[in-house]
Amino acid sequence: EGDAGGGGKTQSEAAKKAKMGIYFATWWGLNVVFNIYNKKVLNAYPYPWLTSTLSLACGSLMMLISWATRIAETPKTDLEFWKSLLPVAVAHTIGHVAATVSMSKVAVSFTHIIKSGEPAFSVLVSRFLLGETFPVSVYLSLIPIIGGCALAAVTELNFNMIGFMGAMISNVAFVFRNIFSKRGMKGKSVSGMNYYACLSILSLAILTPFAIAVEGPQMWAAGWQTALSQIGPQFVWWVVAQSVFYHLYNQVSYMSLDEISPLTFSIGNTMKRISVIVSSIIIFHTPIQPNNALGAAIAIIGTFLYSQVISTHHLFFNFFYSFL
Ligand code: 3PG
Repeated sequence: EGDAGGGGKTQSEAAKKAKMGIYFATWWGLNVVFNIYNKKVLNAYPYPWLTSTLSLACGSLMMLISWATRIAETPKTDLEFWKSLLPVAVAHTIGHVAATVSMSKVAVSFTHIIKSGEPAFSVLVSRFLLGETFPVSVYLSLIPIIGGCALAAVTELNFNMIGFMGAMISNVAFVFRNIFSKRGMKGKSVSGMNYYACLSILSLAILTPFAIAVEGPQMWAAGWQTALSQIGPQFVWWVVAQSVFYHLYNQVSYMSLDEISPLTFSIGNTMKRISVIVSSIIIFHTPIQPNNALGAAIAIIGTFLYSQVISTHHLFFNFFYSFL
């Protein structure tokens, strides 16, 4: 109370930290719920191309209604905006469908253990495609991340190649998505929330024809009947829940990305996976071998180390991004 007069800057820093803390906690919480319903749906109804289309459709619908009813301000966009959104939407679509296909083949925890390697992909893409160089300590911190993921993969009881590759493809696609998104949001009047809404709409348009080609209405209808007869009417609510929570967690994550760098985002995303891995193992009674858990732990500890060494480098990284 005594030094209230002189603490303006410190206070706004503290307020920003508190805001980011709330965003991160909400993002992680919503993501845990999404992952649980998503897997419940996929167990009963193994059509990941349709379920990933439905999540995008649900989010798009929610945002169109929010704009129409003025709950959210309609973004002012032009053709240029949608053109620059296209590569982001392609990356988002690939990353999303690849992760969902992965989770339809393997345990949720396994997909997320592999996806905890995302910061390593972030460094590789920044190094080889953006020409950014990192201190040796950053490369060294990738060893436990990659080694941990590899150990977890080779000791996974229910290893499946499609499940593994889906998670890997998702890693690469999301690194591009985050870098392109940050560029696209920079200096634009479109907020993180609306940016993600437009991204959903464009991704939905891209994914729908592929989903029809890969799976198609006949399979969907037959599978739907089976799922309804096995689970009962609440199956419909599981589908609604996975779709609504998918949109909400992504919306909050984009509200965060609006304020942080893609690298900080990747790190926050890996920390999020700890809660998903632990809760899904408990809820789905996933069998875990000691070496498998060890691999996951090494990968996560690697990310902690990485976040420490990258933070020094970060100052320069933000500077670099200010030119993009
Ligand atoms: C998806 O369906 O898009 C994946 O579950 C996304 O995973 P992530 O947002 O946890 O990277």
